[in-house]
This record gives sequence, C-alpha cells and structure tokens, in this order.
Amino acid sequence: MVFDYIEGGADDEITLRRNNARYRERALLWSVLEDVSEIDTSATILGHRVRAPIIIAPTASSRLFNPRAGEPAVARAAHHHGLIYSASTLASTSIETLARETPGPKLFQIYMWKDRGLVREIMQRAGEAGFTGIILTVDTPVAGNRERDPRNRFSIPPKINPHTASQALARPGYLWDLASTPPVRAANFTHISGGVGSIVDFIDKQFDRSVAWRDLAWMRDLWTGSFAVKGVGAPDDAEACVAAGADAVWISNHGGRQLDTAAATIDLLEPIVDRVSGRAEIIVDGGVRRGSDIAKAIALGAKAVAIGRPYLWGLAADGENGVSRALEILTSELRRTMALLGKPRLADLTSRIVLR
Ligand SMILES: Cc1cc2nc3c(=O)[nH]c(=O)nc-3n(C[C@H](O)[C@H](O)[C@H](O)COP(=O)(O)O)c2cc1C
Repeated sequence: MVFDYIEGGADDEITLRRNNARYRERALLWSVLEDVSEIDTSATILGHRVRAPIIIAPTASSRLFNPRAGEPAVARAAHHHGLIYSASTLASTSIETLARETPGPKLFQIYMWKDRGLVREIMQRAGEAGFTGIILTVDTPVAGNRERDPRNRFSIPPKINPHTASQALARPGYLWDLASTPPVRAANFTHISGGVGSIVDFIDKQFDRSVAWRDLAWMRDLWTGSFAVKGVGAPDDAEACVAAGADAVWISNHGGRQLDTAAATIDLLEPIVDRVSGRAEIIVDGGVRRGSDIAKAIALGAKAVAIGRPYLWGLAADGENGVSRALEILTSELRRTMALLGKPRLADLTSRIVLR
C-alpha cells in the first residue's frame, strides 16, 4: 500500500504513464568526433551553483516511506551531490529540523491555505531557517482521485485493520520502524491549537479553492527570496506568473497525481519557453527516469528538471544511501548521454539534438 501511494497516479493513470512515455518517444540526434574528455553538468539555478540540473521535488510525509530516515536523509543526499533540495509543506520533519540537517541550497514548498496567517507564518519560518526560495504549488485546488489508496484501504498515518494487516505483517521491519518512531505527522503544523489530526483532514480543511492571481501578488510582496510557481501547464499562465513576479515557472502535473489525461509536461515545455524564456527560469518535472530524459528537457529549454518518485524509491529501499544511489544513477547517466551526444556542456544541448 505504501508502494502504491508513491507509484500511483490519478484515475486511470494515463498522465502518469504519458509523462515518461513522451520522453521515450523523442529521438536524439548525436554528433561524432567532438572532444568529450571533460563533461560539465554544472548549472546555476535560482542563484545556486549546482553540480547538475536536477532538483529534488517536494513530496509529502517522507517518513511514511522510511520511518527512520525520512526527509533528513533526502536533504543530506541532495547536499552530498551538490543539488537543490525542496521540502514539502506537508513534510513529516519540521522546517527547523531540516535546516539543521543540511547547509545546502533548499527551497520550501507551500500551498495557499485558507488561513493566510498560517501561510505568512510558515514563510517567515522558512526564511528564518535559511530556505532561500518558496515554491507555491497551484495544481491542487482539490485532491486528485488516486484510486489505489482507497482500494488498499490506505491512510496517512497508515492504520492496521483487517484489510491492511496481511500487507503490514509481510513487512515486519517496516512495521517495527513505524511503531518504534514518532508518529508520521505534518510536522510543520503540530503547534496549531487542537493539533493536526490526519494530514488528509488538515488538507481538506485548509485547501483554499478560491485562490486566484491576486493572492500570488500578495505572496510575492511578503517574500524577498526567490519565488517559483509549481503546477503550471499553459503559456498564458506562465506569462501571468512572470507578471506576478515569479522567478521560476515550474511546469508540472504533480507527477500524474492530479488531473488525469493532462498533457505530458515535456510536451508543454517548448510553448512555455517560447513565451517566457529570459524572464523566468523554467523547471519541468514528471516522468524523468533517465539521464537522456534530463538531456531532452534541457535541450528543449528547461533550466532544470525535478524528480519525485526516483528518489523516493531510493529512500524507501535504503534511506540516505538509497537516495544517494538514485542521484548517482541519474547524474552518471546524464554525463554518459552528453558524451555519447558529443555535447560536453549543458549549453550545447539545444533543440537541434531532438528529432522533430
Ligand atoms: C508521494 C508523492 C508526494 C508528493 N507530495 C507533494 C507535495 O507535498 N507538494 C507538491 O508540490 N508536490 C508533491 N508531489 C509532486 C512532486 O513534487 C512532483 O511534481 C512529481 O513527483 C514529479 O513527478 P515524478 O514523480 O514522475 O518525478 C508528490 C509526489 C509524490 C510521488
């Protein structure tokens, strides 16, 4: 049930599959007899010099996937690899604890809660803790319909009942870790009076469906660091983000977990690049599984890709080492792809390497 929560998407999971399929369908064009003795994957993203154009996407309640390791393991691995880490507002580790775990570049993801005081407070905490950027996720006015979860009788935190008992008993190590560590909770909101019960109840109560462009301007005024808007798919919306003062437009369909049959994000990249390139950095996520996918996204105009499930699988399998291994696989694949393409620097990756 935990695997399905990570792996699954909304409804028929068409977007989930399409995100990756559309990378695979694109063919690469390579050059030969180029000097590729030195491959440079470094980039500057939102003011941070990083070793590769890969960002750790924000994902909720990572301790659910590895109760002992959780978010700190991911943040440390990202720092070790010289990459940007993003923390979810619904992380199971608090902003302050995470900031202590990693001196590396880090962004904090937020939703626009109904309680604007809470939004203001969390932005302030993120700033004080040393997060340099805010990511506002805007593709979640309502929760997506992820059918694997009710089928598995899955909840956060997981409850053991007759339906889940057999799965739980088949994983005694996981069960022990879950039982012998603090409960998996939305760690940034434990101070709220009455406490936060289940994360799902909290989201239901706090998601503001009336959020509109004017709220973006309100947030931009409050935050002096870098500001990214995540979940954008349309060129007009990208334009509106730039007008509202966003430094980055983050193209995402939430990894196929929200609107099913939504377009694959790689297909949305070029029209958005055409519209706002030079005025905002463009980040794309969804379905990046190979170094060649990263090369294609950069070639089509992205400044960086973000990854969700690939590092979560690493985390679930082997904590910090697992995340590190996932990052190592992706970065070494990117280097190999660039060598085989005859393109030693990221700037050499242009749309000419992708067959029309
Ligand atoms: C288990 C899980 C939890 C997620 N939680 C959040 C979240 O709290 N906030 C957010 O903005 N995006 C969240 N996302 C979406 C990711 O940030 C990202 O957009 C997506 O995972 C990218 O697709 P990929 O998994 O194919 O790489 C979540 C994704 C997964 C798989």
